[in-house]
Amino acid sequence: MRQLKGTLLNFLIITASVLFLIPALSADTFAVDTCIDCHKDKKFRIQDKKLFNYYNKWKGSIHDVAGVSCSDCHGGDSTRAKKEKAHPKNLSPTNISSMVFYKNIPKTCGKCHEKVYKNFIQSKHYKALEKAGKGPNCATCHGSLVTNVYYASIVSKTCASCHNQQTKNHPEIIKTAEQILQRLNVSRGYLKWASRHFKDSDKVELLKSINKLYQNISDSWHQFNFANTDENSRELLSELRTIFNETYNKEKKKKE
Ligand code: HEC
Ligand code: HEC
Ligand code: HEC
Ligand code: HEC
Ligand code: HEC
Repeated sequence: MRQLKGTLLNFLIITASVLFLIPALSADTFAVDTCIDCHKDKKFRIQDKKLFNYYNKWKGSIHDVAGVSCSDCHGGDSTRAKKEKAHPKNLSPTNISSMVFYKNIPKTCGKCHEKVYKNFIQSKHYKALEKAGKGPNCATCHGSLVTNVYYASIVSKTCASCHNQQTKNHPEIIKTAEQILQRLNVSRGYLKWASRHFKDSDKVELLKSINKLYQNISDSWHQFNFANTDENSRELLSELRTIFNETYNKEKKKKE
């Protein structure tokens, strides 16, 4: 009887722990992401508008969709439910050891965007950023939550904040930047077209080599060495146009 009582007691204890522990564990250890859980709270709309806006910008962004969360860029422990435990010590962007201190941003983004980072650290932008803090970092152009600068049409605005007649810092590069980006954009269109039309093996080989050329030029963008990128993007586009015209004319002749 005593043994049975013991077993019953054990059973009760185990059941109780299972009932209480599992929710406790899932709230604290298996939680999806405590940064998001807390920061998405609508109360911040009134209590802290800035905080609310950052969450809102992240929500639905390319990083959200790709599973990149607050802690990937800010650090901290996204399994802890309490703010004090979750937040890293160097949370504020004004703290020089913060992952988002302006000079540390390239390294933080570079964890995942390795190729861009490798090219960027060769640029005068990076050197100027490191030295006197005068160069742009990734967030200057992309926004901290990656919401701006992609298209030739809006690049000029971002660049012009530093490259203009007053600063005399290479104001002429804006026009070049627009042209390079436009060429890259049109090239992407041709490459898409070619991937649908090139079926023979020799054409597929050609396509492969041009894709590689495109990739190299696109990668070189973040070196901000336009002497190379300007010339190479011009050649790429002219080659693609020639190939397009040849193929298009041949197809047209066949149909006639
Ligand atoms: C339980 C709620 C809670 C959790 C969990 C939480 N935060 Fe916060 N966070 C806040 C509040 C409230 C603020 C406003 C400032 C303050 O009260 O410390 C804040 C501020 C911030 C700021 C702005 C800091 C500044 O100096 O302006 C960042 C960035 C931030 N949190 C990121 C994170 C990250 C990353 C995580 C997860 C690792 C996280 N938070 C987890 C509630 C939370
Ligand atoms: C892709 C990287 C990235 C992600 C993801 C990210 N942030 Fe940030 N965040 C930054 C950078 C860089 C800064 C600093 C530049 C600035 O102030 O905009 C910043 C600044 C902030 C600030 C302003 C702090 C201050 O005191 O000025 C807040 C608040 C913030 N982030 C909250 C969040 C929250 C909440 C999340 C998740 C929902 C998040 N961030 C996700 C990169 C990121
Ligand atoms: C934890 C990894 C991670 C971090 C940190 C990160 N990113 Fe991303 N980023 C991604 C992923 C994954 C994507 C989704 C598309 C892809 O695979 O390129 C993406 C997409 C992007 C894109 C769009 C690319 C495209 O081809 O449309 C840009 C621009 C970008 N990130 C810039 C940044 C910047 C700027 C920072 C720092 C403030 C940053 N990222 C930090 C992983 C990360
Ligand atoms: C001076 C402005 C500027 C700076 C600084 C900058 N970028 Fe960009 N970035 C651009 C522009 C413009 C494009 C679009 C290029 C194109 O159309 O091919 C781009 C494209 C990208 C892309 C998508 C294409 C690709 O090459 O993968 C990613 C990812 C990216 N940048 C990440 C970063 C990161 C990470 C940093 C910092 C290490 C950074 N950028 C610094 C302007 C900038
Ligand atoms: C935060 C300020 C800032 C922003 C924004 C900025 N730049 Fe710069 N840029 C600089 C500085 C500083 C230098 C270094 C100048 C030097 O050393 O001669 C530089 C140098 C360059 C150079 C090298 C010039 C040369 O011939 O040596 C290019 C190209 C360039 N930037 C392009 C751009 C483009 C394109 C944009 C916009 C997408 C842009 N920059 C946005 C500050 C900026």
